[in-house]
Amino acid sequence: MNVFAIAGSLRASSSNVALVQAIAELAPSGITVTTFNALGELPLFSPDVDTSEPPPVVARFREQITNADAILICTPEYAYGMPGSLKNALDWLVSSASLYKKPVAAMSASPSPRGGDRALAWLLQTLTALDANVPESASFPISIIRNEIDVTRLMTTELGKRFSTMFAALEAASYSRKDIDRIRSTN
Ligand SMILES: Cc1cc2nc3c(=O)[nH]c(=O)nc-3n(C[C@H](O)[C@H](O)[C@H](O)COP(=O)(O)O)c2cc1C
Repeated sequence: MNVFAIAGSLRASSSNVALVQAIAELAPSGITVTTFNALGELPLFSPDVDTSEPPPVVARFREQITNADAILICTPEYAYGMPGSLKNALDWLVSSASLYKKPVAAMSASPSPRGGDRALAWLLQTLTALDANVPESASFPISIIRNEIDVTRLMTTELGKRFSTMFAALEAASYSRKDIDRIRSTN
């Protein structure tokens, strides 16, 4: 399974970026995680620019989403919501329907004890609008996050176990999606 991962922060020493990198390192064998590195390069969404020939960076982003078996999003919380840059990226996916029924892990991470749960709630609402498939065990807030993450230690923690469950849920959802696609193509 190949997973395309988006960290919703543009900050140079972002804890969400560090976390996504750590999760990528924790991926079980058979799962590869590629991280999105152009969140800040996407133009501001406007239906006027969302034509049959979108900006190349948008076309590439949609292609990466389409080609992935599953998506992983980890967002910070800004003013009780997800950052505008992440919402902007998701708005670019509306007309392409590239998240339709796609298995998505949705997490938030914050230094606060609540773990950015209000940003996560908003992210889930947007993913529902996009008809993405978010398995229950692949969505949770992560509290008291720090910039430096010890991957070896993380593996032994409760959070490390939640990531294993999250990968298993994405894999199961990805297989059942492929089954549905196969049945559709033979009928
Ligand atoms: C403009 C702004 C608004 C923020 N609002 C919240 C908030 O509502 N809830 C929260 O838990 N943290 C909030 N924070 C703190 C962020 O969670 C913290 O800066 C975090 O490290 C950002 O994620 P990053 O490290 O991946 O960039 C805010 C930070 C900024 C800069």
